[in-house]
Amino acid sequence: MGGVASLPLASGYVPLLGHAPALVRDPLRFVASLPARGDLVRLRLGPRTVVMVCDPDLLRHVLVHDDTFDKGGPLFERLRDVLGNGLGTCPHSLHRRQRRLCRPAFDGERFPGYAAVMADLADETLNSWREGRVIDVQAELTTLTARVALATMFSASLPAPVTRDMLRDLGDIMGGLVRQVITPAPLARVPTPSARRYRRARVRLRGSVEAIIAERRRDGSDHRDLLGSLMAARDLETAPPDGRVLSDEELTDQVVTFFVTGADPIASTLAFALALLARAPGVERRLHEEVDRVRARGPVTFERLPSLELAGRVITETLRLYPPGWLFTRTLTSDGEIGAVRLPAGTMLAYSPYLIHRRPGLFEAPDEFRPDRWQDPRAPLDAYLPFGAGARMCIGERFARTEAVLALAEITARWRLLPVTDRPLRCALSTTLRPADPRMRLVERR
Ligand code: HEM
Repeated sequence: MGGVASLPLASGYVPLLGHAPALVRDPLRFVASLPARGDLVRLRLGPRTVVMVCDPDLLRHVLVHDDTFDKGGPLFERLRDVLGNGLGTCPHSLHRRQRRLCRPAFDGERFPGYAAVMADLADETLNSWREGRVIDVQAELTTLTARVALATMFSASLPAPVTRDMLRDLGDIMGGLVRQVITPAPLARVPTPSARRYRRARVRLRGSVEAIIAERRRDGSDHRDLLGSLMAARDLETAPPDGRVLSDEELTDQVVTFFVTGADPIASTLAFALALLARAPGVERRLHEEVDRVRARGPVTFERLPSLELAGRVITETLRLYPPGWLFTRTLTSDGEIGAVRLPAGTMLAYSPYLIHRRPGLFEAPDEFRPDRWQDPRAPLDAYLPFGAGARMCIGERFARTEAVLALAEITARWRLLPVTDRPLRCALSTTLRPADPRMRLVERR
């Protein structure tokens, strides 16, 4: 059995900086090139060694054994500055209790209500669009998905200035986060204007959430929204004093987590779906037929979403080609092994759904947009990981799919969005993947 040093080194290594230049220059091309080197590939990022897991079976092993392969590495260290020990960033030792307490907020019975809020807010956004105008799709949809997040978390509508502040703080956090993650720790403390905005937004967002929670405690009534279910959750497996309920600090961590991690990827998914449809007229035409047929029989409610079969496949395929969360890290908490390789405690691992989804030999024509591949029962579901896997898999998957399918149906029923250039679709890296050129022209369908 070999150790980390026996693993193949990724190409593009330069002394001192390691693979950082290759990663920064063209991150997606770099990660997509790794499987050609092996199933486990060694990268050097400055002084750190990172093992990229390029094989879906080995990756499942890592994701399922989350006690040994725990959340860690620079991504989660920086995310903890914002999200505290919320569900996505907490270590394994705190995770199961938190997940049990958060689960009721994502129970099926909540979804008809969530979907109604999603449909109303999508309608408001679409009513503000005007024929012929060029919009920044990513920005429009991020505002929509962030407003949906606020409205589902805090049903009693927030005062307009609070909503405005929270949306602005979210923008500043998302803008600053990616810089914080890629900047080495000592430099990240340099008070550049962007770093200052980021820090201010972090403190203010937590303050807004704390104030909402304090107000709820005072008012004492039962709100049937996401915060209401978090506050009502009782953990029957942990007796006091470990806390049967989430403390105010834990509640703040969870709410900030859902807000910061939930809105942006749904917007990116929709922006990519619209960009892909604009380049696939055959699929777009069939989608129009489907949404027209379904909407002719009444508004699209949660119960009627399954009839939007093609819309569902378009979202599934978009998430395969452009998984918004494209890179995650893990750290070994004790000595462990993957396949035939021994890894000492402290080893850092990384995985990329983008890399797995595009790896040759798993999906046929992996770079092509083919929503109908998902009708084939032989589609390799084991290699489909836009929401991760194992106990740390995304808790918001159903929420995200519901909102994405619903919004896609509402948008495509009323508007066609045309690209403003004929250049191929390219990605920009922010905290999540997003289209490099998010501008599209609005054309009313009728
Ligand atoms: C298209 C939309 C979304 C995508 C692609 C996505 C993707 C992911 C991925 C890949 C993970 C696992 C990360 C890892 O392995 O380290 C994750 C975890 C998580 N996601 Fe999402 N997510 C989406 C939407 C949402 C939404 C809407 C929410 C909240 C309402 C949310 C909340 C979370 C949380 C709390 C975790 C951590 C779960 C845990 O550790 O138990 N996500 N997400």
